[in-house]
Amino acid sequence: MNMQSGRTTLSKFLIEQLRGRDDGADLGALLVDVAAAVKAIAAMTAKGALGGVLGALDARNVQGETQKKLDVLANDAIIQGCEWGGLVAGMASEELEAPYAIPAEFKRGKFLLVFDPLDGSSNTDVNVSVGTIFSVLRHEPEAAPAEADFLQPGSRQVAAGYAIYGPATMLVLTVGAGTHGFTLDREVGNFILTHPQLAIPEDSSEFAINTSNERFWEPPVQRYVCECKAGRSGERGRDFNMRWIASMVAEVHRILMRGGVFLYPKDTKDPGKPGRLRLLYEANPVALLIEQAGGYASTGRGRILELEPGALHQRVPVMLGSRNEVARLERYHAEHD
Ligand code: AHG
Ligand code: MN
Ligand code: MN
Ligand code: MN
Repeated sequence: MNMQSGRTTLSKFLIEQLRGRDDGADLGALLVDVAAAVKAIAAMTAKGALGGVLGALDARNVQGETQKKLDVLANDAIIQGCEWGGLVAGMASEELEAPYAIPAEFKRGKFLLVFDPLDGSSNTDVNVSVGTIFSVLRHEPEAAPAEADFLQPGSRQVAAGYAIYGPATMLVLTVGAGTHGFTLDREVGNFILTHPQLAIPEDSSEFAINTSNERFWEPPVQRYVCECKAGRSGERGRDFNMRWIASMVAEVHRILMRGGVFLYPKDTKDPGKPGRLRLLYEANPVALLIEQAGGYASTGRGRILELEPGALHQRVPVMLGSRNEVARLERYHAEHD
């Protein structure tokens, strides 16, 4: 493919990447609809306080979280942008308890769109990068999907991606042939291929974890982080750097740009929850992006993409990024268990 950065738009890229695939035209059209919704969300976040979109609602979502205005506005933008095109059979969102049924006036398609409309909501009012995460699965039957039809392992995703609303708005996606980054040219309104074929270094010296939860982590995680903090005089023989942005999309983006690991492990702070992050619309899509870029994504005890989901909003422990660091974490869990 003649992917000269700077001249390849998202549409051109998708036409070339999906050429010859049975579902290529429809998948490409769906991803273009998602990109249009992302542009609308980018416009909202860029207005900040001037757009009346900041602050919280007097409402809680199924996660038990207080909803931010942007959580709901972003959710609505994706639903309205993708329900009419005859491409999706149904949708599921962090912000909706049950799957969204396509209204009768619209034709149903062969894809399921599962998404976190706004990732990093705690950052919306402090002007820190937030994002949108999406995952595309297939649904063959003519009948409308039941919740169980969404419960597919991440290895069955046909596409996955995220938008990051930062100083630049970027779209990073995979259709199963590598992970590629696009930057929004605001003047023209096009996503331009700027980061083709992203590749994560196998080794790294940068970790991201919310260390305020240290006393709640399992011993293998405590061991890994303690060794990173010990630096060159310790087991690892080199100094490590730490980051924590509290928007997973921003952490994952940094790792795709320069390597590192991101950990949101299971902790005993809330024994009922096996981790904070949700499998279907956070862990699975970013796991596919990371692995398509040569990294690895694990719960600490197994590959995320092989998990059989048991519930729409199921949570899982997440450890992802540079392959050799995540392999070390799995080794530490195996030695501990
Ligand atoms: P969301 O805003 O979609 O609910 O997700 C927030 C997630 C993730 O983006 C981030 O890494 C993590 O929550 C931050 O958790 P803490 O606030 O516990 O650090
Ligand atoms: Mn999220
Ligand atoms: Mn969210
Ligand atoms: Mn949330």
